[in-house]
Order: sequence, then C-alpha cells, then structure tokens
Amino acid sequence: MRCTTCLVAALAVSLVSAQETVLGAYIFSRHGDRTAKSTPPANLTELGYEEVFTSGTYFRNRYIASGATNRILGINSDIVKLSQITASAPVDNVLQSSALGFLQGLYPPVGTQLGTNTLRNGTQVQAPLSGYQLIPLQTVETGANSENSAWLQGSTNCANAQISSNNYFTSTEYMSTLNNTQALYNRIYSDVNKTFAQSQTSYKNAYTIWDLLNVASIHNSTATAPLPSDDDFDQLRYLAFQHEFGLAYNNSEPIRAITGSIIAAEVIEGLNTTITSKGKSKLNVQFGAYAGMLSFFGLANLTNVNNDFYGVPDYASTLTWELVTNATVTSTSWPSNDQIYVRFLFHNGTTSNTSQPVEYPLFNSNRSPLPWTDFVNGMNKFAISDQRSWCNACGNSTGVCSEAYLTANGDGSSSSNTANGSPAPSSTSGSGGISKAVAGVIGAMVTLAVILLIEGAIVLLGGFRLVSKKRLTGSQSSGSTVQTSSGKA
Ligand SMILES: *[C@@H]1O[C@H](CO)[C@@H](O)[C@H](O)[C@H]1NC(C)=O
Ligand SMILES: *[C@@H]1O[C@H](CO)[C@@H](O)[C@H](O)[C@H]1NC(C)=O
Ligand SMILES: *[C@@H]1O[C@H](CO)[C@@H](O)[C@H](O)[C@H]1NC(C)=O
Ligand SMILES: *[C@@H]1O[C@H](CO)[C@@H](O)[C@H](O)[C@H]1NC(C)=O
Ligand SMILES: *[C@@H]1O[C@H](CO)[C@@H](O)[C@H](O)[C@H]1NC(C)=O
Ligand SMILES: *[C@@H]1O[C@H](CO)[C@@H](O)[C@H](O)[C@H]1NC(C)=O
Ligand SMILES: *[C@@H]1O[C@H](CO)[C@@H](O)[C@H](O)[C@H]1NC(C)=O
Ligand SMILES: *[C@@H]1O[C@H](CO)[C@@H](O)[C@H](O)[C@H]1NC(C)=O
Ligand SMILES: *[C@@H]1O[C@H](CO)[C@@H](O)[C@H](O)[C@H]1NC(C)=O
Ligand SMILES: *[C@@H]1O[C@H](CO)[C@@H](O)[C@H](O)[C@H]1NC(C)=O
Ligand SMILES: *[C@@H]1O[C@H](CO)[C@@H](O)[C@H](O)[C@H]1NC(C)=O
Ligand SMILES: *[C@@H]1O[C@H](CO)[C@@H](O)[C@H](O)[C@H]1NC(C)=O
Repeated sequence: MRCTTCLVAALAVSLVSAQETVLGAYIFSRHGDRTAKSTPPANLTELGYEEVFTSGTYFRNRYIASGATNRILGINSDIVKLSQITASAPVDNVLQSSALGFLQGLYPPVGTQLGTNTLRNGTQVQAPLSGYQLIPLQTVETGANSENSAWLQGSTNCANAQISSNNYFTSTEYMSTLNNTQALYNRIYSDVNKTFAQSQTSYKNAYTIWDLLNVASIHNSTATAPLPSDDDFDQLRYLAFQHEFGLAYNNSEPIRAITGSIIAAEVIEGLNTTITSKGKSKLNVQFGAYAGMLSFFGLANLTNVNNDFYGVPDYASTLTWELVTNATVTSTSWPSNDQIYVRFLFHNGTTSNTSQPVEYPLFNSNRSPLPWTDFVNGMNKFAISDQRSWCNACGNSTGVCSEAYLTANGDGSSSSNTANGSPAPSSTSGSGGISKAVAGVIGAMVTLAVILLIEGAIVLLGGFRLVSKKRLTGSQSSGSTVQTSSGKA
C-alpha cells in the first residue's frame, strides 16, 4: 500500500509576493492533545489547549493581525466581525473545545480599551475576562462524538462507506498484516494489559492500542505499565497509521472516503461564498477527526506527492485552502473568477512561527496555486455536496433519504442498491438532474444550531459586549451549545 510513485517533492513555501492578495481562507484542523480513546470520555488536555491556541495565534499573525504576513483583504484585526468568520465542529467535547481554543488565539481578548461599551445612561460596561470575544461555533453533522470512537466511519452514518471500510478487514493487506504482526502485539501485551484483553491485542485494534501508548508516552499515565521499546513503539505507530489509512481510503472504492468528499464540498462552498459575497464572508475554521484528512489526502492525490500523507496527521494539524489573486483589488473592485486562484497548504502538528504550513499541489497537477475553475473541477471529481448525491452514494434510502428520493420526481430506481454490497460511485455535485427541488442541502452538512443563530444575530445587532453578559448567565443555567456539548459525550 505504500506509495509507488513518490516523485514530486513538495513545493517550497512560496514567499509572499508583494502584489498577491489573500481574499479568504478555509482552515480544517485536527484537535489538540487529548486523553486516550480507550479511557473514555476523551478530553482535551492543557497541552492540547495550548497547541490549538498556538496554532490559532499563528493563523492570526498570518491572516488577521494588522501586521499579518498574508492579511485577508479587509478582515477585522482586533474586534471580530461575525459576518466575516464561520467556525464549526462536530458535537464532540475534544473537537469543540479545540475549536474554541483556536478561536481564542485567532481573536484574543481586546482588553479594556477596545472592549468597553458606554451605555445610554453613561455607565461603562466591560466584557468579562479582559474583553474576551465570543465567536459562535456551528455544529457539523458528520463526526459526532468521534474522539470517543475507535470506529470513525460509524459517525458518518453512510451505509456504503461502512460496508466499504468493513471490507478492509477482509483484504489481503489486512489479513497478512494481522498474521505477521501478532508476535509484536504479544510482546507488548503486558504494557497494555490494564486496558486490553489478550484477544484484543492485535493489529485489529492497531490504532487504539497505539493511541493508548502514545498518550502514555506524553502524560504520566497509570493506564499502562512501562512503555514498549522505541523500536516496538515506532512499529506500532506505523501499523496504526496503515490501519487507519486502510479504513479511510481505497482507490477502487471512493465511497470509503466519504468524509473527504464532504470536506471537499464544504471547502468549495465556503470559498465560493467568499467569492459570491465579494468578500463579505472571509474565513472558515472547521475542526474534525484525522480520518477525514486521510480520506481527503487519498482523494486529492496528495499521497502521490509525498509518502507522509499516508500517515495520520499529528494533533493540531491543519489543512488550509487560500483564495488568492494577483489582480489589483481595492475596496470597491473584486477580481473576476479567472483572476482567482487557490493555494493548498498543510502543516503536520502545531503550527507556529518556527514551523509553518507547506504548500502542496493538489490532484497530481504539479502546480500551485490552481486557477479557481481548475480547483473546482478537481474537487468536484469527488465532492459530494447535496442530499440526493449523498443518499445515492451511500445507498441510504430511508429517513432523510426517502424524502430526497420522493422530491426527485419519483425516480426511486437508484435507491435499490442498498442491499447490494458494492458501493455506489461517489457522484459529483451539481451535475445533471440534481435540482434545487432537493430539500435541504447536506452540502456543507453544517446545521446551524438555532440558539447559535439567534445569539449570532444578537451579537451582530447589539455588539459583543452586551451579549456576553447574557451568554454568561445563559450558559450557566441552560448550557449553551457553544460551550458545552457534554450532553452527547
Ligand atoms: C479526562 O480523561 C481522563 C482519562 O480518560 C479521565 O480520567 C478524566 O476524568 C477526564 N476528565 C474530564 C474532566 O472528563
Ligand atoms: C445604567 O443602565 C444599566 C443597564 O440598564 C444599569 O445596570 C445601571 O445600573 C445604570 N446605571 C445608572 C447609574 O443608572
Ligand atoms: C444510512 O444507513 C446506515 C446503515 O443502515 C444507518 O446506520 C444510517 O443511520 C443511515 N443514515 C441516514 C442519514 O439515514
Ligand atoms: C480495495 O478495494 C479493492 C476492490 O474492492 C479490494 O480488492 C482491495 O482488497 C481493497 N484494499 C484494501 C486495502 O481495502
Ligand atoms: C500466518 O503465518 C503463519 C506463519 O507465520 C503461516 O503458517 C500461516 O499460514 C499464516 N496464516 C495466514 C492466514 O496467512
Ligand atoms: C500485566 O502484565 C504485568 C507484567 O507481566 C503483570 O505484572 C500484571 O499483573 C498484568 N496486569 C494484569 C491486569 O493482567
Ligand atoms: C507520575 O505518577 C506516579 C504515580 O502516580 C508518581 O509517583 C510520579 O511522581 C509522577 N511523576 C511526575 C513527574 O509527576
Ligand atoms: C457558487 O455559488 C453560486 C451562487 O450560489 C452558484 O451559482 C455557483 O454554481 C457556485 N459555484 C460553485 C463552484 O459551487
Ligand atoms: C505526520 O507526522 C508523523 C510523524 O510525527 C508522520 O508519521 C506522518 O506520516 C505525518 N503525516 C502527514 C500527513 O504528514
Ligand atoms: C502572483 O505573482 C507571484 C510572483 O510572480 C507568483 O509567485 C504567484 O504565484 C502569483 N499568484 C497568483 C495567484 O497568481
Ligand atoms: C510570529 O510572527 C509574527 C509576524 O511575523 C509576529 O508578530 C509575532 O510576534 C511572532 N510570534 C512569535 C511568538 O514570535
Ligand atoms: C488522481 O490521479 C489519478 C491517476 O494519476 C487520476 O486518474 C485521478 O483523476 C486523479 N484524481 C484527481 C481528483 O485529480
């Protein structure tokens, strides 16, 4: 499975030309350091909080701060303008906390000078925590509670993707690795015997076993005895990564990479909104699990560019898509679509001034940045952006999918592939036949929690200082979705 054609080296980080303007960006990030999946509930650690905060601070200095290196055109530098930024994460303690930590780095407290509001009667009110800024977090449907799950495909709810991932367990790669590595797993059994039974200690649980040991290698954990030798540890990591890539992507079964297909659609939609709104919306920040990243790496042919893309990205890793142009832009002009380009960057682990994202060419194109239309065409080879395509590709035909079929002029024929084990090809979005009649675009698969919408509106209308008071009282009694998602953990 390892890369066969590892040819093109990553393009060097291009130095920003004075003329290039960043119009917007989409950041997809992994959470920070957390406790082990096998000792639920998993939670973000102080180290993890620091990691995402550091990453957020880096992106602030790249895109937002007044002296930012690649400042997004017209973005607010200090006091957040909520129409410019969209933040989201699945309902999951680790991912939501990580997103909040990242946002704190992106828009830190503004202090008493900026964060004070004078009321009609002259009283001055200051936001708590030295002008702490509140940025609502939308919830993403896919990936709920993923940091407590060993089986990430479960949270996609996609029938064919689950069948396809399960096929991995009957592949020759899996069978032979399982057999060849049992001696290693027997050897390290005494290190994990507090958590795993002997029968569970095999390649079948490669990721959760390595995850437990990895957490123990970072924290003073009592869940394990002494750690395995460095050699064994490296092998266990390699095996865990091979296992996870096998579950996330298979060249001949694109449906296995459903999460990557959805991310692709979300990114197109996010960047397209920046374009169609002529820059009113500027920055998207989304948090998610590593499996979706691996799926995307496979789908976008990044594994052909660098072997590293077969490996699980470290905590707080980021994928970034920048919308850039060399056209002259002013506050009143907006470039035409053919003047707009997309640059993809990846960083493995916490991003900081001393360890910055690297630019990579997408789709085996050997070229970066890509013209907007080429980028969209490449992404649309695998993006799944609407309900009907999703239902078709996943072979689901009940619940929300039965409605999608009904609204699609009674053509239920394609739903009959549910029982047939072979996954439907991932269809592209926007192609013939898929109409606006389809109720509810899964598209972004982003569901706005109603509370957040209302809060967002209040914040927009009333200014964040006023709202923060309400929010604080509110979150104590009713538990706002922004701060606490523990209900589902
Ligand atoms: C965090 O996870 C650890 C290990 O799983 C657990 O012992 C601890 O109680 C959790 N903390 C919280 C606040 O949930
Ligand atoms: C000014 O108005 C605020 C909000 O209505 C109130 O809490 C505060 O007591 C008022 N201050 C004075 C001096 O009336
Ligand atoms: C799709 O099918 C799977 C397997 O039957 C099921 O678990 C999942 O809930 C379905 N998803 C939807 C959105 O109907
Ligand atoms: C990938 O899919 C093909 C075709 O279904 C299958 O033969 C092969 O075993 C799969 N490989 C893995 C690693 O799942
Ligand atoms: C597993 O490996 C052993 C020797 O290491 C071999 O005899 C056996 O046939 C293998 N089994 C499978 C299913 O590959
Ligand atoms: C785990 O293995 C160690 C070393 O063999 C042993 O001392 C310990 O009793 C074992 N613990 C359990 C729970 O089996
Ligand atoms: C690690 O945990 C053990 C057992 O709880 C304790 O004795 C030891 O002092 C801890 N080490 C550190 C560096 O805190
Ligand atoms: C961008 O959005 C506009 C307006 O909604 C739509 O017409 C267009 O097809 C979208 N473009 C892409 C590439 O999705
Ligand atoms: C990230 O770094 C780890 C080593 O820390 C490596 O094994 C893995 O392949 C890397 N993943 C990517 C996507 O670069
Ligand atoms: C803008 O021009 C610079 C210098 O020629 C080049 O490196 C960069 O790729 C260009 N950017 C775009 C979006 O064309
Ligand atoms: C990182 O770089 C930015 C801009 O170049 C600078 O403002 C910031 O102070 C630097 N941060 C650190 C921690 O060095
Ligand atoms: C990835 O590469 C393969 C073969 O090199 C090609 O057939 C496929 O279209 C590429 N995928 C994308 C999304 O460009």
